[in-house]
Amino acid sequence: MLLLAAAQVISAHTGLEDKEVISLLEIPPQPEWGDLAFPCFALAKKFRQPPQQIALELAEGISREKGMSAAAFGAYVNITLDRSVHIPFILAELSKPDFLKSDIGHGQRVVIDMSSPNIAKPFGIGHLRSTVIGAALYRILGETGHVPISVNHLGDWGTQFGKQIAAYQRWGNKEQLQHDPIGESLKLYVRFHQEAEHDPSLEDEGREWFRRLEQGDAEAQRLWEFFVKVSLKEFERMYQRLNITFDHVLGESFYNDKMQAVVAQLNAKELLEESDGALVVRLEEEELPPCLILKKDGTTIYPTRDMATAIYRHEVMQANRLLYVVGGEQKLHFQQVFAVLKRAGETWAEQCEHVPFGLMRFAGKKMSTRRGKVVKLEEVLNEAVARAQAIITQKNPDLQNQQEIAEDVGIGAIIFGDLKNNRLNEVDFSLEEALTFEGETGPYVQYTHARIRSLLEKAHARASTHSDSGTVPAEEGHSTELTDVSGEILGDAGWELLKQLDRYHGQLIRAARQLEPSVMARFALDTAQAFNRFYARERIVDGGQWRIQLAEQTADILAHSLQLLGLKAPNRM
Ligand code: ARG
Repeated sequence: MLLLAAAQVISAHTGLEDKEVISLLEIPPQPEWGDLAFPCFALAKKFRQPPQQIALELAEGISREKGMSAAAFGAYVNITLDRSVHIPFILAELSKPDFLKSDIGHGQRVVIDMSSPNIAKPFGIGHLRSTVIGAALYRILGETGHVPISVNHLGDWGTQFGKQIAAYQRWGNKEQLQHDPIGESLKLYVRFHQEAEHDPSLEDEGREWFRRLEQGDAEAQRLWEFFVKVSLKEFERMYQRLNITFDHVLGESFYNDKMQAVVAQLNAKELLEESDGALVVRLEEEELPPCLILKKDGTTIYPTRDMATAIYRHEVMQANRLLYVVGGEQKLHFQQVFAVLKRAGETWAEQCEHVPFGLMRFAGKKMSTRRGKVVKLEEVLNEAVARAQAIITQKNPDLQNQQEIAEDVGIGAIIFGDLKNNRLNEVDFSLEEALTFEGETGPYVQYTHARIRSLLEKAHARASTHSDSGTVPAEEGHSTELTDVSGEILGDAGWELLKQLDRYHGQLIRAARQLEPSVMARFALDTAQAFNRFYARERIVDGGQWRIQLAEQTADILAHSLQLLGLKAPNRM
C-alpha cells in the first residue's frame, strides 16, 4: 500500500507508470535517510538533464504533497512519510479482508501434481518436500485468485508390483503386512532382489505376475489392491499429521485404459520410431535424448503415463495450467514429456511446468530403497514432537494441552525448516536447529505469535479493569489515545513493524508468481523479528490504542502466514 501511494505521487510528477516506479523504489540502507528512496538515473534520458538535477526538482515536488517530505541525495530522492498521516491509513488498510488476498490469477485452474509417493515403498524425504511445498503453493495460489486442484499421483503401477506379488507369494505374511505395511513390503522387496541374484527364475516369476496383473487376473488384482490399501492407510496417517488433504488421489494405474490412445496419437502424427525393438520419439530438435514410449515387450512406461495424465488433466479437469512439484532429478523426464506433447500437437503443453526442488538430507543421511536403509518419515515426525514436548515442558510447565501443542510445534518445525529455503536449494536438515525457539524457525514464529496473544489478553484485561473502576488512565500519561509519553504515535520500531506488515500483499503476489513458498516463510520471520524489536523498545500493554492495534494486526498476519505455509498457530506455548 505504501509503495503504491508513494509510486502514484512519483508517477504524477514524472510521467512514469506506477509499476515502473514501484520496481525502481528502494529501501534506504539507513532508516534515518527516510522510508523510501527513488533513483533518478532512468529519468536522465527522458528529461535530458543530469539525474542530480532531476532529483532536486522531484524532491521539491514531492515535499509539496500531503503526508510526505523528500530530500535529494545525489541522484536519489529520499522520501519520508508523515507517520501521523500514514499510520491510521495503513492500519485501516491492513484490517480490510482484501488485504490478505489478490486476484492476479483471474480464476485460472491450476492442477498441482504433488506428494505422489510410491505404493509399497517408504514415503521418501523427496515426497515430504513435494507434499509440503505443493500444499503451500496450493494455498498461495488459492489466495491469489487461482483455482488450485491438487492431485496425488500415486506410483501404483509398474513391473515392480509383479516382483512384489511374487515375493509375497513366496515369503509373505498377511498379519505382518497389515501391521507394518511399508516395512514389510520393503523387506520383501529387498529379499526378492537378494535372492534373484542366485535364482534368476525369480525375475521370470515377477514378470509373469505383472503380466497377469496387466491382463486383469483376479488373484494378481486382489494382491495388488491389498498392497495399495495398506500402503495408503500408512500414508494417510502422515497426511493427517501434516494436515493435508487432496482434491484427487489418482494413481498411475488410473491411466491404464488411456495409454493406447496416446500411442495411437503419436503414431498418427508419425512420431514413433523403432529403436532396439522399443518405440521412441526422437527429440533432436529440442536437443533432448529420445523419449521411450513403448518397451520391447509392449508395456508402457513412466513418460507415456505422464502424457495420458496430462491430457486427462487438460481435458477432464479443465486445467489451464499444470504444475508438477517433483524433485529436480526428474528434470529431463518432464522436459521430454512436455516436448512430446507439443510435438503431438497439444499446444496447451506450453502451460505445463515442472516445479523442481533440491535434495533434502536428514543429518547428512540420504536414502536408498534398494538396500532397505531408510530414514523413516514417521520416526522423524515422532522425534520432532518428542523434542518439542521436552522444550515446552521446560519452558512452560503449567501449559495445558501440552501434547497437542507439541504436535503443532514439532510438525511445524519440520514444515518451516523445509519451506524457509528457496525450494531449489539443497537442505541439510537438522531437527535440533529447526526446533530452536530463538533461531529462524517455525517455533520462533509460533512463539512470537503466542506471546502477542498473551500480551493482548493482558492489555484487554487491563482496559476492562480501568473501565470497571471508572478511572481513565490519564494519570499514566497516556490520556490521549494517539500519543505515548514521548508524544509519538509510534516509535521507530513500531513504524518499522507497520511498514513490514504493509509488505504482506506484495510478498504474497511474489510468492505466487515465483511459485516460491519461501517468500512467505521469509516474510513471517522478518515480521516476527520486527515485532520482537518493537516489543523490546516500546510499551505495548499500556502503550496506547495504536500500539495495541498494531500488535493485534501483527498476530493476525503471523497466524495467517503460518496457516498459509501449513503450520498451526497456537495461542499459547
Ligand atoms: N511417484 C514418482 C516418484 O516417486 C513421482 C511422481 C511425480 N508425478 C508425476 N506426474 N510424474 O518418483
